[in-house]
Amino acid sequence: MSEARYTTRGAVAVITLDNPPVNGLGHELRTGIVAGLDRAAADPAVKAVVLVGAGKAFSGGADIKEFNSPKVLAEPNLHTVIRVVEESPKPVVAAIHAVCMGGGLELALGCHYRVAVAGAQVALPEVKLGLLPGAGGTQRLPRVVGVEAALNMIVSGNPVPSEKLGGTRLFDALLEGDLLEGAVAFAEKVADVRPLPRVRDVALKDPQAPAFVAFARNMVKAVAKDYPAPARCVDAVEAAATKPFDEGLALERGIFAELLQTPESRSLRHAFFAERATSKIPDVPEDTPTRPVKAAAVIGAGTMGGGIAMNFANAGIPVTVLEVKAEALEKGLATIRKNYEGTAKKGKITPQQVEERMALIRPTMEYAALGQADIVVEAVFEDMAVKEKVFRALDEVMKPGAILATNTSTLDVNRIASFTRRPQDVVGTHFFSPANVMKLLEIVRGEKTAKDVLATVMGLSKKLKKTGVVSGVCDGFIGNRMLHGYLGQCLAMVAEGALPQQVDRALEKWGWVMGPFRVSDLAGNDIGWYIRKRQYQENPGARREIIADRICELGRFGQKTGSGWYRYEKGQREPIPDPVVEEIVLAGSKEMGITRRKISSEEIVARCAFALANEGARILEEGIALRASDVDMVYLTGYGFPVFRGGPMRYADEVGLYNVVRAMGRFAALPNADKAFWKPAPLLARLAAEGKSFT
Ligand SMILES: NC(=O)c1ccc[n+]([C@@H]2O[C@H](COP(=O)([O-])OP(=O)(O)OC[C@H]3O[C@@H](n4cnc5c(N)ncnc54)[C@H](O)[C@@H]3O)[C@@H](O)[C@H]2O)c1
Repeated sequence: MSEARYTTRGAVAVITLDNPPVNGLGHELRTGIVAGLDRAAADPAVKAVVLVGAGKAFSGGADIKEFNSPKVLAEPNLHTVIRVVEESPKPVVAAIHAVCMGGGLELALGCHYRVAVAGAQVALPEVKLGLLPGAGGTQRLPRVVGVEAALNMIVSGNPVPSEKLGGTRLFDALLEGDLLEGAVAFAEKVADVRPLPRVRDVALKDPQAPAFVAFARNMVKAVAKDYPAPARCVDAVEAAATKPFDEGLALERGIFAELLQTPESRSLRHAFFAERATSKIPDVPEDTPTRPVKAAAVIGAGTMGGGIAMNFANAGIPVTVLEVKAEALEKGLATIRKNYEGTAKKGKITPQQVEERMALIRPTMEYAALGQADIVVEAVFEDMAVKEKVFRALDEVMKPGAILATNTSTLDVNRIASFTRRPQDVVGTHFFSPANVMKLLEIVRGEKTAKDVLATVMGLSKKLKKTGVVSGVCDGFIGNRMLHGYLGQCLAMVAEGALPQQVDRALEKWGWVMGPFRVSDLAGNDIGWYIRKRQYQENPGARREIIADRICELGRFGQKTGSGWYRYEKGQREPIPDPVVEEIVLAGSKEMGITRRKISSEEIVARCAFALANEGARILEEGIALRASDVDMVYLTGYGFPVFRGGPMRYADEVGLYNVVRAMGRFAALPNADKAFWKPAPLLARLAAEGKSFT
């Protein structure tokens, strides 16, 4: 059956777009729409046509299954379909509900009339993939909603509910009741109206247009400086206001083709697909049965436990929180309440929602209260002896089939599983801090973790609105294992000649959300110090981080102590470069026998990026990560790597692995270099030699 179903209702032909899940405008659907329009044109009994979407959408736009395939351009392409609609001798009415986005909205804009029900999400989100709407959206939308609203929608890519656009020419009618009935009645009413109205013929006369365009241009320059798509969206909308329609359309097409070739768009499209790929686990098919998760439990109400409990409550899943001390339990719950109240103050949730969510969180000090939970997440101190006690207790009380998860960052999940008689039910769920905010969830697959446990936690990550990425068991899993070398390079560059603020600035200018020294001051410098001290003890030959240690020896733990790699004014979070730190750095270099040299921003960025990619290659080779794009997702969603650079693996591909290996050779030859560190991972060396890439 065609993806565009053709039926008639009296004198009105109804073409139903039916390509689940969101009626993506794939080749078959496009062909079907054109065939339907031809049939309607040829049938003298038909006076008008209605285009309507089946199921959950009018249309979500391009069919992502066709992305990156020649089918996306095969005739009839979207431009052709829209031309056929626009040139139809009988009026075509778009009947819009639920989702009308991208190419779906462009198709609707090609129709002679549009009717909608309230609550439809209307958007041109192409900018989020580093593109612009390439099928007339930038030229037609301003003609019906005005230049200002069109700029807002096209430059942000964000959806607007249909009722907010009710007063504009985008919708000829906002309908109540049954959409199709209403649309057919509307079509009957306008069946004989001639000439047929076309959005392309609307004269766009807005004396304010130049001011709106100038404002948008400035704003884009400020917030998206290294990122071409938003600025080019503004150019295209400006053309709608200043040039004849067909000239504007040609300009839009040219810009689309140009943006398609930019590394930024390639990276954003990579990230879009990478996100979808994370849930594919080769030996755990998508139809693997999952276990129900209707009730949860969390052990420990500290920094992580509290945030994890909030995740469950936010998803409407009741969660019991266990602590050993009443005081810690009270403190944990008070922090959760404070967090919710803060969110309510910002207007993001209502005071009633605060209470509803608090009511889902049940404090306890008794293991017996957890027994019926479907999943329990342990978030107690990072100490194997404590974890052992907790898991032995859980093994006694949890019902058969309950999932036993650990939030450990560094400990061996297989060992933790061995404390129970049900290692198949044990899995790592590594949340990131703050757990109620950060999107990343590393799902750590133990040697014995059952497939349905993995499938259940993967599904749960979606319910909790997280990006779940599967990692094998190793020290630091994917993210923190790679971070080790990255931070090592940052410290090495400070010892060799840079100052912390210079490293932060170079990386932030390149697009990182926050430089490593600012992050460290925020998270607490004492965490790394604690780990280093343990390493020095276990391995007396380990490299000493003289400068970082000195910072901590002075009690400069970061924001919480008022100073760290920077200093902070009381009650402020703004990092201020501190001459004391400069003294510590210079003295540290001297003590290490290093002659300081000028280090360029390019060197800072490249050493950091390639250190990550090289360790990422090892992680891939060892099978810790399933695919290079999973490594990228970890860095995009958990570590603030610039999204428009696609992640460390994708960025290395963009540079070219041959060039990456050559750069690593140059870094190895620098004075004071750690030559072993810069040895390319075997996978990287092989791919570079074969002219291949990671992604
Ligand atoms: N803080 C982070 O950024 C972060 C990030 C990812 C993972 N983790 C991991 O999460 C876990 C918890 O870390 P945190 O930062 O929340 O620590 P935390 O010190 O803030 O909280 C730990 C809590 O566990 C409680 N606790 C200790 N022993 C217990 C027991 N036997 N039974 C019940 N409760 C007990 C403590 O009272 C405390 O409230 C650790 O394994 C840590 O490695 C931490």
